Amino acid sequence: MSLLEQIDKSKTPKHIAIIMDGNGRWAKKQGHMRLYGHNFGVESVRETLKAAKELNVRYLTLYAFSTENWNRPKEEVDGLMDLLVRSLASELRELSSSGVRLKTIGDIKGLPDHCQKELDESIEFTKNNDEITLILALNYSARWEILSAVNQLIDDAKNDVFNAEVTDEVFASYLTTSSVPDPELLIRTSGECRVSNFLLWQIAYTELHFTEVLWPDFKREDLYKAVLDYQSRERRFGLVSEQLT
Ligand code: FPP
Repeated sequence: MSLLEQIDKSKTPKHIAIIMDGNGRWAKKQGHMRLYGHNFGVESVRETLKAAKELNVRYLTLYAFSTENWNRPKEEVDGLMDLLVRSLASELRELSSSGVRLKTIGDIKGLPDHCQKELDESIEFTKNNDEITLILALNYSARWEILSAVNQLIDDAKNDVFNAEVTDEVFASYLTTSSVPDPELLIRTSGECRVSNFLLWQIAYTELHFTEVLWPDFKREDLYKAVLDYQSRERRFGLVSEQLT
């Protein structure tokens, strides 16, 4: 039986988040500059999105640029921003005609103007699509997100916009992911086993899948393996096995 046939499509995660890692190492192995790896990473984004859609995944969140990534060499940062703009411009029509809605999380105002413009237009263009939501985390870090939420809560409390107890639900409504369910599965490629400031609040009960595969080599079958791994887990949310049945 193929990997795809082994997947129970009625139990696929509704939201998968991915830390796309290993582009630089992949490029180095081929004797190229790091940007070469990022360019090939776009093909993996394309494949993964298609495969996720076929598996009935409703949200796919990709960690495309962290707040820490600004510290990389200027040439790489500029190249990544250009790649984002070029990819959106060239893929937008196909994305939209296949029912993809684009969304971003992160401090988008901190991105260069031409990126913000391309993103705004792409979000507007795809806003009525509902097959799958592709969420790009850009200039994102979970600590930034949590602190922004806390500061907004303090402001709202001062201005009497809000004066009740801060519950899980209330706090989550202040996060950039407020309209999105928490991911059931988080994948990180390239063999690194850490979460690197990504969705720290949202992954409280998320299943983690780490693979040695470098992001430019990550293809459909790798997503299928991750989903099968997820389906082999027992999600207990603090309960014991017997309570689940
Ligand atoms: C991490 O690999 C990857 C990134 C920081 C950028 C990810 C960007 C893309 C896949 C392309 C653009 C995406 C879209 C959505 C158009 P790394 O550079 O840290 O690799 P390394 O750990 O091997 O150095």
